[in-house]
Amino acid sequence: MPSPTVTPDPIPAEDLTRQYGPIADEIHAAIDRVLPSGKYTLGPVLEEFERDYARYCGVEHAIGISSGTAALQLALAAMGVGPGDEVITQANTYVATAFAISYLGAKPVFVDVDPVYANLDVSALEGHITPRTKVIIPVHLYGHPVDMDPLMQVARKHRLRVLEDASHAHGATYKGRRAGSLGDAAAFSFYPSKVLGAYGDAGVIVTNDADLAKRLRVLRYMGQEVKGTHLVVGYQERLDPMQAAILQVKLRHLEGWIEQRRGIARRYRELLAGLPLRLPVESADCRHVYYLYTPFVPRRDELVAFLEGRGIGAQTIYRTPVPLQPCYAGLGYTAADVPVAARLAGELINLPVFPELRDDEVQRVGEAVRAFYSGGKA
Ligand SMILES: Cc1ncc(COP(=O)(O)O)c(C=O)c1O
Repeated sequence: MPSPTVTPDPIPAEDLTRQYGPIADEIHAAIDRVLPSGKYTLGPVLEEFERDYARYCGVEHAIGISSGTAALQLALAAMGVGPGDEVITQANTYVATAFAISYLGAKPVFVDVDPVYANLDVSALEGHITPRTKVIIPVHLYGHPVDMDPLMQVARKHRLRVLEDASHAHGATYKGRRAGSLGDAAAFSFYPSKVLGAYGDAGVIVTNDADLAKRLRVLRYMGQEVKGTHLVVGYQERLDPMQAAILQVKLRHLEGWIEQRRGIARRYRELLAGLPLRLPVESADCRHVYYLYTPFVPRRDELVAFLEGRGIGAQTIYRTPVPLQPCYAGLGYTAADVPVAARLAGELINLPVFPELRDDEVQRVGEAVRAFYSGGKA
């Protein structure tokens, strides 16, 4: 009798259920602190998480915000950004980084990226500064910090403020300091699939600047310091205590999860050695947290289809650099303005990386990529 063909289980690009199961009891206990309290906005649970997250980042203040996008927008607003201003950021980021600038009536100015880390090319930064520039937003892309020392030098020289977009980089470090503590302030997203993710939309701003923190607490609460008196036109963008309680639990597991991500990256490095791919690089100054595992590869779209054919979830984020998106056509950028970002957008693949991905799955992904480049045979 012929033996039945066994189809291996699909390998997802991400699977948040695998993380929830083992911590379900802790999560339920945390939610049970909030629900009977009757306090469903602001309050002590949110404040506790803010203290914990500030301590984790090595900064004085954390202000919980309803999403990463709102965190970027409110941080820029608190820095005084408005119509007529320019804010510099990098060409290959999630659109939210640029949208936060546009929401305030300011103009996003896009810098190209370096070809190794795909992070903001600090050597090109100064050429984009004009008298209207107010803030620089470096994005620690995929979980690897931007080279912040030279960036801060340029910013200080021109009296510009720096807002880190650390949405990919919870727990990443640069010269021993955590992402979020490197600029004047930082915005993080806690979108569910992030390195630290909530169970819904959530975000935070961290800073050592007490005045900025105070302004942000007012801004996120409809312009109020005390209920009933609206000092400025503010926003309704607070982080829910329910999400804060969940994040407080998950923060306790974060270092372990980051080490699991880093272990998977090490395995990929072994499994993919010698193939015609440019694997992610970690600078000696940095700790990469591998929010995404992002080789740059030849024949990218064919590889994605090949992996999908074998049940392996591979993604290709940021396929079009932000300045080349239709919504920014009016700014007049072409690929020639951001050549590195434009090239990398066609070469990037995201291989599955999440803490609970099993070693046999990582191995199968590695073998499949190897099979693709050796003509399709396993
Ligand atoms: C780099 C970057 N910035 C900002 C955001 C926006 O965060 P959110 O989805 O929480 O609004 C994201 C997330 O998706 C992101 O990846």
